Amino acid sequence: MELLTLILLTLWTLWTTTGGEWSPPVSSHVSCVFMETCLLPCSFKPGDLVIDWSKGRMTVHIFDQGKDELKDQDASFRGRTSLFPEQFFVGNTSMQLFKVTVDDEGIYQCFVYDRKTDHGTDEYIHLRVEGPVKALSMEQKGDVLVCSSEGIYPQPNVSWAPPSPHKTQIGPMTDRRFSVTSSLSLDVQPPQQYSCNISTDHSWKSATYSLQPPVEISTNITIPCVDSMVPEKSLVWTFNYIQTIQLIVVRSGAEVTYTAPWRPFVEGVSERGSLSLKELSQEQEGVYVCELHTDDTTYISRTVLGHTAPGEAHSPC
Ligand SMILES: *[C@@H]1O[C@H](CO)[C@@H](O)[C@H](O)[C@H]1NC(C)=O
Ligand SMILES: *[C@@H]1O[C@H](CO)[C@@H](O)[C@H](O)[C@H]1NC(C)=O
Ligand SMILES: *[C@@H]1O[C@H](CO)[C@@H](O)[C@H](O)[C@H]1NC(C)=O
Ligand SMILES: *[C@@H]1O[C@H](CO)[C@@H](O)[C@H](O)[C@H]1NC(C)=O
Repeated sequence: MELLTLILLTLWTLWTTTGGEWSPPVSSHVSCVFMETCLLPCSFKPGDLVIDWSKGRMTVHIFDQGKDELKDQDASFRGRTSLFPEQFFVGNTSMQLFKVTVDDEGIYQCFVYDRKTDHGTDEYIHLRVEGPVKALSMEQKGDVLVCSSEGIYPQPNVSWAPPSPHKTQIGPMTDRRFSVTSSLSLDVQPPQQYSCNISTDHSWKSATYSLQPPVEISTNITIPCVDSMVPEKSLVWTFNYIQTIQLIVVRSGAEVTYTAPWRPFVEGVSERGSLSLKELSQEQEGVYVCELHTDDTTYISRTVLGHTAPGEAHSPC
């Protein structure tokens, strides 16, 4: 009799969750970060419980007669679910879902049946997945500025400041998160500054790229990085001399490292990241790039040092 009730109720929920018109009364919404652990909340009056978690037609997790019953568990959930049996006596029938993927999005049903009272009820929980924008890369490739990121969910937005014509490609990766690449043509009139912002409803990262006016080489020189004080996490200066990129300075917190070939030439790095150089000769003519990271924004500044007419300085090297 009890079992028959359970089967009928299960069939009823199967029928209702798969019928196109009917949408379940969702009682809670949860947002879970890609590859992290998610808690799907559910609670009932304590009793002699059968707990049946499902998603559409898929069995997610069943607990019956004091133990997990996972033989009907859908393969996509194998090894990724657990309940809190030590909490059942307070009516906590929440489920933990590990390593959340985009496919886990959707509505979960928590059906609890009490053998003692022969009574069953259910709750519906809507799970949304977030793949936050974690890192953004901004690179100059010839006369094109390319801004890109990947592993984002849901589909991100890209904006440029100042608003400029750009080509943006957004495509799904194999795990259904999105990768995005946006490029714009650089104007040749220096100085120029462009910012790219990749965002979802929950997260964003941006990068600002500055083309500094070229600097005539002399013995001692200071090359600027950012205009204003920003809460810096790390700073890197590189020298780009005909295809090879040489690291000059890395600063991370209080730690500053100068690479050996540059020690004779580096006077110091200011708080705002400006690079002071000394005893320079033609050998040090080339492109200097500063990359300063804060929590959500990367500042990149590119300066050409040399005996160049202003017009030539911004041609790709
Ligand atoms: C259920 O127990 C888990 C683990 O202790 C806890 O994180 C969660 O908040 C509890 N949920 C409810 C609805 O009490
Ligand atoms: C980037 O875009 C997001 C979403 O529109 C916004 O909240 C954020 O302030 C922007 N960041 C910058 C630096 O413009
Ligand atoms: C993306 O940009 C469009 C147009 O500016 C806006 O309507 C939409 O709300 C944005 N979406 C997100 C997720 O920021
Ligand atoms: C360059 O800097 C060095 C070290 O600070 C200093 O000794 C030298 O006088 C400076 N040279 C010029 C031309 O300013």
